[in-house]
Order: sequence, then C-alpha cells, then structure tokens
Amino acid sequence: MNLDKKLIYAPETYQYTDHALNEEEIEKDPFVQFNKWFKEADDEIPESTTFSTVRLPEGRVSSRIVLLKELDTEGFVIYSNWGTSKKSKDFETCKYASLTFFWKKLQRQVRVEGIMRKVDYKQSEEYFQTRPRGSRIGAWSSPQSQVIESRQVLEDLVKSNTEKFGDNGDIQCPEFWGGIKIIPLEIEFWQGRDSRLHDRLTFVRDDESQPWKLNRLAP
Ligand SMILES: Cc1cc2nc3c(=O)[nH]c(=O)nc-3n(C[C@H](O)[C@H](O)[C@H](O)COP(=O)(O)O)c2cc1C
Repeated sequence: MNLDKKLIYAPETYQYTDHALNEEEIEKDPFVQFNKWFKEADDEIPESTTFSTVRLPEGRVSSRIVLLKELDTEGFVIYSNWGTSKKSKDFETCKYASLTFFWKKLQRQVRVEGIMRKVDYKQSEEYFQTRPRGSRIGAWSSPQSQVIESRQVLEDLVKSNTEKFGDNGDIQCPEFWGGIKIIPLEIEFWQGRDSRLHDRLTFVRDDESQPWKLNRLAP
C-alpha cells in the first residue's frame, strides 16, 4: 500500500439529516431514554459498546468492545474476566469508566461516564448459566489477556476443562468472572444533524443520590 498519498476515510459530503433530539421530547429519566433509543437501534449488534478504563497512577487509558447485557434503574451491566484481563487490573486502581455506543443507522451516539461496581455472585451466576456450554468452558479456560505461547496452550486448557466438567455436569460461574455495573454520573445523547450542527443533550449528577440535571452542549 502506498501511504505517500493522504488517505481520506470519511467523505466530507456525508450528512446527518434524518433525526433531531430536543428538550421537549427527551425522556425525563435518562435510563428510560436509553432504553427507548436502544430499542430503536437497528444496527447489527446494538449492544456492542466501547468500554474504557484507566490505570492509575499513570492515568493510562485502555478501550475495548464489550456487550451490554443488562440495564436496570442503577446502571449498565457488562460481563468479563476480573482476574487477569487488562480491564481487571485497571479496576483495581481506578473505578471510573466509560461506555460509548454508536448506532450508525439512526446516526446516534450515547456516552456513559460513571463508576464501576461489581455485581454480586448470584447475579453473575444467573447470567453465566444463560451462556452456551462452550462459552462457559471458555470462561474457565482463558487467562484473558495474558501472553500465551501458542493457540495450542488455549486448546489444551479447553480440552482439560471439557474433560473435567464432562458432558452434562454443572458448570458454575468462576469467582474471577462476572458482571460489573457502571453507575452513571453522566449520560449524553447525541443525535447527528445537518452541517455537523448535532443535538447533544446530557444528563449529569454529582453522585447517585442526586437528581439528574439536563444540559445542552454545543456540537
Ligand atoms: C463484538 C465484540 C464483543 C465483545 N464482548 C466482550 C464481552 O462482553 N466481554 C469481554 O470481556 N470481552 C468482550 N470482547 C473482547 C474484548 O474486546 C477484549 O478483547 C477482552 O475483553 C480483553 O480486554 P482487556 O484485556 O482490555 O480487558 C468482545 C469483542 C468484540 C469484538
């Protein structure tokens, strides 16, 4: 590939003209508003979201795609490995995190910033049991984000766990695996508009016990 020439990935002509978001129509409760947009999102994996965490004391940021699995009146729940992954090491040093959803077809973005809290084992176990058997064995087998010598190392771990659990036996949720709830302090609803004059309405609060305040931000 010749990189001498400047690469332009997004034509300037692309416009966001289909929808609008205003103070009159937005729901008073950001969780209700999120739910409404989530249901309307018709992208292929609407629950996929960029999850960012921070490692202190350096303040180094790391992002990855995860899937939103639950939403209740407290926050957004995602599931992962909390023993070896990068996000788990970040969690030990800093509880702040963000989620960024992008729903291309409706030209919408939602940004969530908040505080991570582990969900209890019972809730994680309930979700874990909904996963296919192969994924449950996978969770036990993968030292997520650790360096491994080869693909074979992983396959061997899966093989020995498959033998250990047998064909039909129970596979319980590992202690190192489970849900994290992001309790939001800010939720921004971004609707693409013509000439890049987008609508941005953001709910903010200082902590969980405070009522939400709604602000409009310049695009
Ligand atoms: C579409 C998609 C969905 C994913 N969903 C999850 C998920 O729900 N949980 C998870 O731990 N990793 C998920 N991953 C893998 C993560 O992006 C990442 O590789 C992994 O969590 C390790 O990240 P970390 O070491 O930065 O913590 C997903 C990846 C993609 C592309």
